Parts: sequence; structure tokens; C-alpha cells
Amino acid sequence: MDLCEELRCLQEEGVARLQAAADEDALEEARIALLGRQGRFKALRDVFRAADADTKRVAGRLLAAADEALKAAWSGRQQELRGAGAEAGAIDITLPVAGHRRGSIHPISRIAADVEEVFTSMGFAIVDGPHVEEELFNFTRLNIPDDHPARDAQDTFWLDNGRLLRTHTSAVQARLYPSCSLPLRAVVVGKVFRYEEVDATHDNTFTQVEGFVVDAGITVAHMIGTIKTMINAVLRRDDVEVRLRPSFFPFVEPGFEVDVRCTAADAGRLGRWIELLGCGMIHPEVLRQGGIDPEQHQGFAFGMGLERLAMIRHGIADIRVFNGADLRALHQFGA
Ligand code: DAH
Repeated sequence: MDLCEELRCLQEEGVARLQAAADEDALEEARIALLGRQGRFKALRDVFRAADADTKRVAGRLLAAADEALKAAWSGRQQELRGAGAEAGAIDITLPVAGHRRGSIHPISRIAADVEEVFTSMGFAIVDGPHVEEELFNFTRLNIPDDHPARDAQDTFWLDNGRLLRTHTSAVQARLYPSCSLPLRAVVVGKVFRYEEVDATHDNTFTQVEGFVVDAGITVAHMIGTIKTMINAVLRRDDVEVRLRPSFFPFVEPGFEVDVRCTAADAGRLGRWIELLGCGMIHPEVLRQGGIDPEQHQGFAFGMGLERLAMIRHGIADIRVFNGADLRALHQFGA
């Protein structure tokens, strides 16, 4: 093998060896063998120096190229190995672990679960309907006339396809009646939507629970007993005081609003009555439109916003907490 051949060979093999060095020790060993004072490069350079002028002219470039390639391969590999080492060193295994942040159950989900539990224990079915609802079920079949303000675009999110975002869970009553078998005991917990200015006590998206019972011989007394049982369970008490005031809702007759008296536990509102829900005996027209004969069957229904209840339960002053994304606030109520 002549000098030129040997130089090409040195460059090729040397670069490969340097690049393959597994760690810094192996790299140093290769460097010494190739570029050290007694290494292969030095030996060939000595041959080069002793060569004749013709050989030198050709081999000079190869010598310089081999020198440059070997040094570049060495320093490149050194950087790679040092970089990997630095990365490995950056993991300080003595540091405490970052820890997992434990999630918490949203206060509304928790109340919803409590409501569903108490109604399940009373033999109610848990039902639901769509958020995108038809005018027929949200309004018409609930005896809400065409000119009622609730149908106005000021209060309702209307969609381009003529449907709407349900404004109350009462819509599920209208959906269910035609296909239900009697007696019927059902409760629905779900989101409802109102085109409303958002402030501390109003949100455009909130949660309602709607309960309804249809059977022969149902009276207001059944309604009051059921509602009191629910409120006691949800406020975790056994002595809630409620009061009924006559009120108007198109889908019930008579209709009432139920107030509950706050106790010391209810965030400083001691003795005050606060309005909690609407209820009444299901309007005969609503039953009739749902294919139920009001002469044979009667019923009661009620609807309640869960945010209001959660605000009492946790002493929350601002409804925007629930749909806000401030986890510091929400975590407080999840325990
Ligand atoms: N749907 C009514 C609302 O959103 C609440 C309501 C009132 C529901 C009286 C009822 C009821 O079932 O009987 O304001």
C-alpha cells in the first residue's frame, strides 16, 4: 500500500473509530492511537516527510485532509458525549418528586350526584334530554304561549336551524310524556342556557334539576314532602324550614315558589328566606298534550337551579365561580 492509499485508509477507519467511541475513555484511547505522538497519523507524517517531491505533491492534500477529518471527528464526538453526560447530570435524583396534583370534584357535579342519589332512593328514574331542543318541547307542549317573553330572542339562544338551547329542564317532561308508562317518577339534572347578562347571581349557562311525578291521586302534599326530602338531603340537614308562595308558571296550576329558611350553617344569612325553586301541579293542558288524560292522572313538577343550592351549601357569593376556570376557587369545594 503506498502512502496515499494509507492516508485514505487512516482517514476512513480513524473517523469511523472516533465516531463509534462509546464513552469519553474510548474516545481518548482512539485519539491517542490515531493522533497521539506515537499514533498512526504521526507515523504516516514521518513517511510523508521522507518522501520524494512527486509523492509529496499528491499526498500533501491527503495528509491535510486526514488531519482535519480526524480532529473534526474527535471534537464532534467529544461534544456529543459531553452533551449527553450533561443531560444525564441535569436529573438530580435527590430532589423531591414534583408530586401529582389531585383533582377535585366540581361542586355542581357533587350536588348533582347527591340529588340523583336521594331521588333514586325514592324510586325515581334518572332521565335526560338534549341541550339542543325543539321549540315544541321547550315551549309549546309546556303551555307556554307564542307571545310569552321566554320565547323572545332576548332570553333564548336560538339556532339558525330553528332549534334552541333548552332554557329549562322542564322540556324533558314534554319529551317524555308521550312515550312514558304510568305511574311516572323521573328526575333530570342538566345544563340549561339563557341569553342573559352575566353577573354575580346570573350566568348564561347553569344547571337545573327537574323532578316530576304522574300518577292517580297525586296532591300538593306529595310534592311538598318530596321537595323537603330533597332539600334536607342536599343541604345535609334534617330540619329545613320551607315556605310556599303562590306563583305563576304556564305549565303548572296551581304554581308555587318554595323558599327555604337559612340557618347559621348557611354562610351568615341566618333567618333569611331565600327563594329556591318553582313547582306546582302539572297543568292539565300539559298532560293532555303529552297524551295523558288529566281526569285519570295528576302530577306535580318542580324545577330548581343547582348553583343557587351550591352557593348556600358552600357560602359562595359569586355564581361565576362555577363556570370560571379558576382551579384555586374550585378546589376549595371539592373535598
Ligand atoms: N322551568 C322553570 C324555570 O326554568 C322552573 C320550574 C318552575 C319548573 C315550576 C317546574 C315548575 O317544573 O313546576 O324557571
